[in-house]
Amino acid sequence: MGMSTLIVQISAGLGLYIICLTFLALRRRFKNARFSREHGCLPPSQAPTDWTFNISRPFILSKVRKAHKFMPTQQESFHRNGNTFAFSIAGKRLIMTCEPENMKAILATQFKDFELGKLRHDNWGEVLGDGIFTVDGHQWEHSRAMLKPQFNKNQITDLEDLETHVQNLFSRLSLAENGGSVLNLHEYFLNFTLDFSTAFLFGKSVGSQLCQGQTSKFAQDLDYAQKVISFRVSLENFWWLYRPKKFTKAVADVQAFIGESVQQALDKQKSEKGKTSEKYVFLEALARETQDPVVLRDQMMNILVAGRDTTAGFLSWIVYSLARNPRVWDILRREILTDFGRDTPTYQQLKDAKYLKWVLNEVLRLYPLVPTNFRYANKNTTLPLGGGPDGLSPIFVEKGERCVYSVYSAHRRKDIYGEDADIFRPERWGEGKPRGWEFLPFNGGPRICLGRKCSLLYLCLALRGGGGVLHNPCTSCMIDHTPRSVRSILPSSLRFFRVTEGC
Ligand code: HEM
Repeated sequence: MGMSTLIVQISAGLGLYIICLTFLALRRRFKNARFSREHGCLPPSQAPTDWTFNISRPFILSKVRKAHKFMPTQQESFHRNGNTFAFSIAGKRLIMTCEPENMKAILATQFKDFELGKLRHDNWGEVLGDGIFTVDGHQWEHSRAMLKPQFNKNQITDLEDLETHVQNLFSRLSLAENGGSVLNLHEYFLNFTLDFSTAFLFGKSVGSQLCQGQTSKFAQDLDYAQKVISFRVSLENFWWLYRPKKFTKAVADVQAFIGESVQQALDKQKSEKGKTSEKYVFLEALARETQDPVVLRDQMMNILVAGRDTTAGFLSWIVYSLARNPRVWDILRREILTDFGRDTPTYQQLKDAKYLKWVLNEVLRLYPLVPTNFRYANKNTTLPLGGGPDGLSPIFVEKGERCVYSVYSAHRRKDIYGEDADIFRPERWGEGKPRGWEFLPFNGGPRICLGRKCSLLYLCLALRGGGGVLHNPCTSCMIDHTPRSVRSILPSSLRFFRVTEGC
């Protein structure tokens, strides 16, 4: 075969390939346009594209993130482009929304059209395995069905251990305070919630608060592993390029540690067949559902991560908000002293503490612990709002497109919460407006947070009279002072923020 024949054949093949691609692209466009028409969709507003086709966007965002301005920057983009808009990076479109109706569609009414996606499964999965936080579809349904019964009220109200860990927290704070140093309260809260969570979940605490001046090895490994997976989210499809040796070792050590507890629970179950422990231990209860050590390890890891950082972050934001609002602090303190005194309150008393509930809601409104999140469409579908010049028509979402929803921005919308939406004012929760999907700190729909009641209970107990945060002279001493510097929220659902208090 001559050279020229070969060139002709290659050109013909290439031409055919291009024709096929063009045909497929046109067919896709045609099908999408028809779907869109049939569902009455109109295009959403489009955020501007820069000369790099927005390829530089992840780098810009990484700078914004480092400056702890990610969430305010995202909120500004909604002010500029509307409550729902499209945004393209290198021609790939994603949908941004802070519209409660759209969040309801993504998370509940059209739940089956959306999923967490492969990126989250593969990246987070290196630490969390195939646990409830990383899987979709049947695997998720199975995880949810297995874990849900472990979160019933009777089990989570058995919290005697909490007092010991609260006391350990205050001992550590007193020690640090006597040293006259600036405290990073968030670190203290992370150790507190780690100790408490491990006691509740595994039946024995890792005792990170007891490591004099240091964080336990387990806490260090867990923190580092989470830091790496959070960072990798910003690398998008290239997340796998960042896997330092230290990360592999930290993950192996954390998994081995949890694996050991799992084995002990399984051994205990074999030797004490039929007998139940006096104290409720999450792992032991779960081991009655499945005896697969890997499933148990992965699920325990997921629950630990889900509960520990969120609760510590919530506690930090409560202190941060109260420190800036002495009026609220006084009212809350009075309510707690009057209602509970020094006794451990009952579950019902905590539920009835009206002002406490308003304060917690207001903190969750302004500082949601998972401030922004996303789902991928797993089929061609729609969102109910955002299309057309008035934004009131449905919009088309193509299979594979990412829908980013911003709980942080929805919680600060002035058309929903009023002109003072940016202000911390717990009393707004007594003004009787229905919130529904406008208030979404724990997600909604079938994947609503399983630990929401449990976390509110931990917090109420930690804040209560007696040995609680609000009653402890050491904490009030810190809170009476203006915090020196406060960094802002990071957009990750695993790492949140730091509060640095100056005494
Ligand atoms: C203030 C504390 C907490 C907040 C704000 C919070 C918030 C959330 C949010 C927003 C999600 C949805 C994440 C997503 O789908 O992408 C979630 C899921 C979840 N949370 Fe929480 N959470 C808190 C505490 C806890 C605690 C203490 C536990 C357990 C001990 C827990 C267990 C879970 C589990 C298992 C899921 C996964 C549910 C599923 O996918 O079906 N959470 N949480």
